[in-house]
Amino acid sequence: MTAETSITDNKINLEMKRLNQILTLLLNEAKSSTVDKRDQTLEWSINHMFSCSQLAKLLAHKRGLDMELSGIAGAIHDIAIIRTGIFKDHGPAGAPMVREILEAYNVNYGAKKGELKEEEIELIVEATHQHTDKKNYTDHKFIELIKDADSLDRFLHSKDTYAFYSVRCRNSLKDLNIDFDEFK
Ligand SMILES: [Fe+2]
Repeated sequence: MTAETSITDNKINLEMKRLNQILTLLLNEAKSSTVDKRDQTLEWSINHMFSCSQLAKLLAHKRGLDMELSGIAGAIHDIAIIRTGIFKDHGPAGAPMVREILEAYNVNYGAKKGELKEEEIELIVEATHQHTDKKNYTDHKFIELIKDADSLDRFLHSKDTYAFYSVRCRNSLKDLNIDFDEFK
């Protein structure tokens, strides 16, 4: 099991309270942005935040990783672009922002929605820091998951897909039992 579930009245619920609250915080921050010069539109950043989070959950399930933590990383990994509008080096730039947001989440919502442990925050911070380095592979399954989900989400949104991104799309789709060549 890669996510906690509850079954009530024959309905099954995945446990995503922390992620759902964090998505609300991120959406509110994006909507209140006053940055007018952006390397990519705020609308794209918002769409990507939600859909990358969902893809990360599915891939996490297939790879035996925690679905909610993967969903959080999928949602928050581009926070530097949302905050500054700048694409260049947004992985390393976003890492301290992720730490700040998740620590504030713990203070303001931890008791009600569930705390993120320090090692969980560290995992998401590290994945954010490294996700822009798509060409290189590590042996860290969580970091690779975010790079892969990010690549696949861009492809599915019809963004330019470079060769090194398409390898990641192929690997991700394979885990979801879809052959990349079916799209040709
Ligand atoms: Fe991304």
